[in-house]
Amino acid sequence: MVFPDYRPRRLRRNETFRALIRETSLSPAHLVYPLFVTTGKGVRAPIGSMPGIDRISVDQLGREAKECLALGIGNVILFGLPDKKDPAASGAYAADGIIQRAIKELKNKAPELMVSTDVCLCEYTSHGHCGILVGEEVDNDATLGILAKTAVSHARAGADMVAPSDMMDGRVGEIRAALDEEDFANVPIMSYAVKYASAFYGPFREAADCAPQFGDRSSYQMDPANVREAIREATLDVEEGADILMVKPAVAYLDVIARLREEFDLPVAAYHVSGEYAMIKAAAAQGWIDEKRVVAETLLAIRRAGADIIITYCAKDYARSLG
Ligand code: PBG
Repeated sequence: MVFPDYRPRRLRRNETFRALIRETSLSPAHLVYPLFVTTGKGVRAPIGSMPGIDRISVDQLGREAKECLALGIGNVILFGLPDKKDPAASGAYAADGIIQRAIKELKNKAPELMVSTDVCLCEYTSHGHCGILVGEEVDNDATLGILAKTAVSHARAGADMVAPSDMMDGRVGEIRAALDEEDFANVPIMSYAVKYASAFYGPFREAADCAPQFGDRSSYQMDPANVREAIREATLDVEEGADILMVKPAVAYLDVIARLREEFDLPVAAYHVSGEYAMIKAAAAQGWIDEKRVVAETLLAIRRAGADIIITYCAKDYARSLG
């Protein structure tokens, strides 16, 4: 069909028609809101490079949880800022660690809220790398047991889902086996299957105080140039028992999200990361963009590319903008 027989504008004439033929949906139910949890009492400390996002102490989490639920956001993911760090990341799996206490508080104050946890060591190691160092190298196999121990400690504290973000080879299988062994067969794994070594994590590293003290993460996170490798990474995680496959970052990697959507039938998540959030906030603060519309369009684009789930610092802003 060609013009003038076919006129695409016929179905764009009013909002009711536009809504009738809309191909992609977006609602707060698709979103996961990240929370940074810190020690102390009564703390809500703003993060300079992430306007609107605070580091929150455990006692403030109940209020935060209720706010999310009231906005229709049923899922959060936790990141911890421990008081002490050491080379072995012992704070990551401590029974009374920051995340373990945060999970208990949330499940106590708002049991309906689904609590996922980021499983990684970089917030807990004094050197800021995501695994155990041997010399200046991050040792893959020496890290696996600690990641599994960390995931189990989160499940024991009541976590509803664990999300390994370290990018060690074999960690999904190791975590699955450890969870099953400890009677947590029902706790799903949302794997950061395809996580790139990205400059878009800059603000997060300020927020979570987890920048590597030397070198970078290119020996474990993926090269931004690669997409076939993304398929190999995701295939491994499927075989090891992942329940959800994540791509991270999101906006600069929409092609990767679309590829995963085509190749796999597991749910696909996308992490709209700190730098992507900071760029929107910075431009909006200058009055250069319409923040509400840019946020909605960005999240819609991530869904259109094929993500079922979006982890985003914009979750509350977006949900509020609907009301
Ligand atoms: C931990 C982790 C990072 C992010 C999520 N989990 C930082 C990193 O890998 O350096 C980044 C999230 C964001 O930028 O919003 N490894």
